[in-house]
Amino acid sequence: MKDRYRVVVVGMGKRGMHHALAFQANERFEVAGVCDIDAARLDAAASKFGGVKGKDALRVALSVRPDVFCFCTLPNLRSQMIRIAIESGARLVAFEKPVALNSREGMEVKRLLAASGVKAVVSHQHRYGEHYRKVKDIIASGALGRVHTVYGTASGWMMHMLSHLIDYMRWYSGDAKAEWVMGQAAGCGKCSDPHPSPDYIGGFIQFTNGVRGIVECGAGAPDVPEVDYWWRKCRIGAQGTEGFAEVLTGGGWRAVTKAGSSSGGGCMNYDLDMPPYIEDMAEWLDDDRKVHPCNFESAYAGFEIMMALCRSAMEGGQVALPLRDTADEIGMLGAHLAGQKVLLSTAANASAYPSASPELELAMSR
Ligand SMILES: NC(=O)c1ccc[n+]([C@@H]2O[C@H](COP(=O)([O-])OP(=O)(O)OC[C@H]3O[C@@H](n4cnc5c(N)ncnc54)[C@H](O)[C@@H]3O)[C@@H](O)[C@H]2O)c1
Repeated sequence: MKDRYRVVVVGMGKRGMHHALAFQANERFEVAGVCDIDAARLDAAASKFGGVKGKDALRVALSVRPDVFCFCTLPNLRSQMIRIAIESGARLVAFEKPVALNSREGMEVKRLLAASGVKAVVSHQHRYGEHYRKVKDIIASGALGRVHTVYGTASGWMMHMLSHLIDYMRWYSGDAKAEWVMGQAAGCGKCSDPHPSPDYIGGFIQFTNGVRGIVECGAGAPDVPEVDYWWRKCRIGAQGTEGFAEVLTGGGWRAVTKAGSSSGGGCMNYDLDMPPYIEDMAEWLDDDRKVHPCNFESAYAGFEIMMALCRSAMEGGQVALPLRDTADEIGMLGAHLAGQKVLLSTAANASAYPSASPELELAMSR
């Protein structure tokens, strides 16, 4: 156990800065190096955190030899950064969701991590929100009886939001893995986005413990009218034999159980969610038994579900898990959906999905 773990952060955009600030604020960590290919972002980060700076992640990592290699680049860069983390001798790699853009890359990341024994954490940090934890506590208390269904919806598109939804649905289901999924997708306006996605995807998940998952993500997902801020229009919950409980990312939590109804506040907040997320990395580095709640194995189970939903949307039918072979799901789904226009569920989605069917937009604005 070390007094202080040395950290390199790569990709000093929005999430890289969140991570670096949270590491710096925690006395168990020291930001010893920063990296970005963008000179202005690199200089701004270096003047804030000091340490080694550079545009080449491998050079920075080999110069610092960090305990923690953290990267917050866009989702097109994953296995390349994992290789650098391993080569630098880091004991833990922390990176952003989604795990990868396709199963070819995701399975390579899994293989590299398993072969190296390096611990890995994926940033599904919403679960630290007080409202997310309240729902988990209600489920764990038994107040819902036997949970038989978990559900999640988000207005944002797949590569941004589905990874989060599935992670919290799995958590509420008792961390079950999936046996099979069946999905559908529509619209290709976001196929060439930096977070390439179908405009709308939905499906069913059969978890190994018998719990059913129902998920919808994107332009056709139902509105969450209780929440104003568009990116936080997400609803994740659990139904059991004796009640239900759900969290709204931007609007607190509520439950109905045999004891009556209850509700409370809470809103996704990076400033509140990042410190405990980072602290749990120190705990895991200190003690192998204190596995991080956002560990890679858990994130990968969710990632496989997302990729299987894409395969089902392309090929039809149910897709069994775990996946046995690799594919470029997002590339293939993009070709499958090319030219298709999504139908919106709510006028609130129109500006985020400008390529949606114009007829429907018109009808909804009347
Ligand atoms: N967990 C969450 O709540 C959450 C929220 C937003 C975004 N994200 C995820 O975080 C990741 C980053 O998103 P962001 O919004 O911070 O993006 P961003 O565009 O603000 O930052 C990415 C940075 O990476 C840099 N970069 C790109 N290639 C590089 C390379 N080879 N070496 C070094 N730097 C490189 C870019 O110059 C940029 O500064 C994405 O995967 C996104 O899905 C997660």
